[in-house]
Amino acid sequence: MERKLRHLESTIRNRRTVKLFTDKNINPDLIKKAIDLARWAPNHHLTEPWHFYILNSSKIKESVELIRAVITERKGQEIADFKAAGASKIPGWMLVTCKKSDSELTQQEDYASVCCAIQNFSLYLSEAGLASKWSTGLITRDQRFYDLLKINSESEFIVGLIWYGYPKTLPNQSRGELESVITILD
Ligand SMILES: Cc1cc2nc3c(=O)[nH]c(=O)nc-3n(C[C@H](O)[C@H](O)[C@H](O)COP(=O)(O)O)c2cc1C
Repeated sequence: MERKLRHLESTIRNRRTVKLFTDKNINPDLIKKAIDLARWAPNHHLTEPWHFYILNSSKIKESVELIRAVITERKGQEIADFKAAGASKIPGWMLVTCKKSDSELTQQEDYASVCCAIQNFSLYLSEAGLASKWSTGLITRDQRFYDLLKINSESEFIVGLIWYGYPKTLPNQSRGELESVITILD
């Protein structure tokens, strides 16, 4: 039991957001398994609000060009070329969406479930020796990205663009003081 708990603790602690990946091939079955497990996130009323879109190489290329175009408009050519060059080296691209709801409460709960699902996905990959980065960069909020991937923005919205692969290095991270986020109410 102690061993299992220590293992779980290290799985959670050691998941890192990674920006640089090697070009080692990723087994598609592993990604499918990670998606399957992602769906075991808590989900009120079992609405299963998520959808996972895996991009193939031609869609990745088109997405890189969209990043270039969108960032050029907002931040200029130099930054856009830099970002596009970085994005073009990322081996795995997955988009996670959440179903839209007319009910504010359901929408909030569904979004929360999709976030939990992304964490499940990321933890599984991390445990398998891969890493990921959850991005909410400019393209994820641009209608052209929806159009490119044929995602209906009237019925679902992008929660994250998940970049994944085998990490070049794992960065260090820290969190603030534990005591500062705990209040005992009595
Ligand atoms: C909803 C969400 C959106 C994020 N968007 C970005 C992003 O656009 N760009 C980025 O570099 N990191 C993004 N991140 C990753 C965070 O920056 C990262 O989780 C944070 O630096 C802590 O690092 P860790 O994940 O290694 O603990 C996002 C994370 C979350 C949860």
